[in-house]
Amino acid sequence: MDIKTVMVIGAGQMGSGIAQVHAMAGFQVILHDLNDDFVERGLTQINTNLTRQVEKEKITATDKEEIVKRIERSVHLNDASKADFIIEAAVENMKIKQELFAKLDELAPGHTILATNTSSLPITEIATATKRPEKVIGMHFMNPVPVMKLVEVIRGLATADEVYEVVDTLSKTLGKTPVEVNDFPGFVSNRILMPMINEAIFTVYEGVATPEAVDEVMKLGMNHPMGPLTLADFIGLDTCLYIMETLHEGFGDDKYRPCPLLRKYVKAGWLGKKTGRGFYQYR
Ligand code: CAA
Repeated sequence: MDIKTVMVIGAGQMGSGIAQVHAMAGFQVILHDLNDDFVERGLTQINTNLTRQVEKEKITATDKEEIVKRIERSVHLNDASKADFIIEAAVENMKIKQELFAKLDELAPGHTILATNTSSLPITEIATATKRPEKVIGMHFMNPVPVMKLVEVIRGLATADEVYEVVDTLSKTLGKTPVEVNDFPGFVSNRILMPMINEAIFTVYEGVATPEAVDEVMKLGMNHPMGPLTLADFIGLDTCLYIMETLHEGFGDDKYRPCPLLRKYVKAGWLGKKTGRGFYQYR
């Protein structure tokens, strides 16, 4: 399949990173969000990342200009009619995703693949909102997208082999390493990562150690680049809670029960780096 134009739905932390890597690989990109401000914020993030790359002499200023030029702004979903490949990175909410996929199914050309960057929601269920479940697939990037090598590629129950092959090839074109995974809650990455983060929160909740101590243990003892609580702040505590709830609901096992302290922080609006406070303070 010949992909020329990729539409990214959602210009947040993940969506802007996804748009950046596609534009860097030479694709025309349509970066879509609900309003101009959201799209602009995503473009600012991309600009900052590319400027850093120019300063480090990894790309030239001309490269940067060309990459940015390949990204078109969009606040109208009917821009989907121009896309060969759509990747959705909107909020983690099944109802919203299903509504979006139903609209995209109507607006996008028949050949267009509809991918989702969901971190834990079932692909099979998202696909039921469309009349093309064989063209719906999970393409889960890791944060920060421009740096992390992994793309988890998740087949829904109906995903066609050809569609899987396209996403596998596309991921490699982006310089990433695709790993095939089946459609179960949290896939592989978050099924393993989130219970570890949740357990780190339990150790703080139960007074075993301070956040700093927990992070130091995991960084120096396990060679993790970031401690689990720093990482949780970086991912967003609301996202961590949502994924734990998806695991808990999906498997029904108490080992996935979200820590009450995580719930409390989310209720307080302490969502991590993006709100200036989580397990650490950022302003
Ligand atoms: N955006 C873009 N690039 C970034 C970045 C960001 N937010 N943060 C760092 N970078 C780049 C830097 O520019 C630098 O690039 P070069 O190598 O080209 O110079 C490189 O990353 C390394 O950065 P630093 O030297 O400043 O810092 P570091 O060595 O501490 O690395 C890190 C930063 C890559 C984020 C590292 O700390 C790390 O790997 N952390 C763990 C990240 C992780 O676990 N991600 C997965 C989260 S879970 C997820 O995404 C799934 C989900 O569904 C929730």
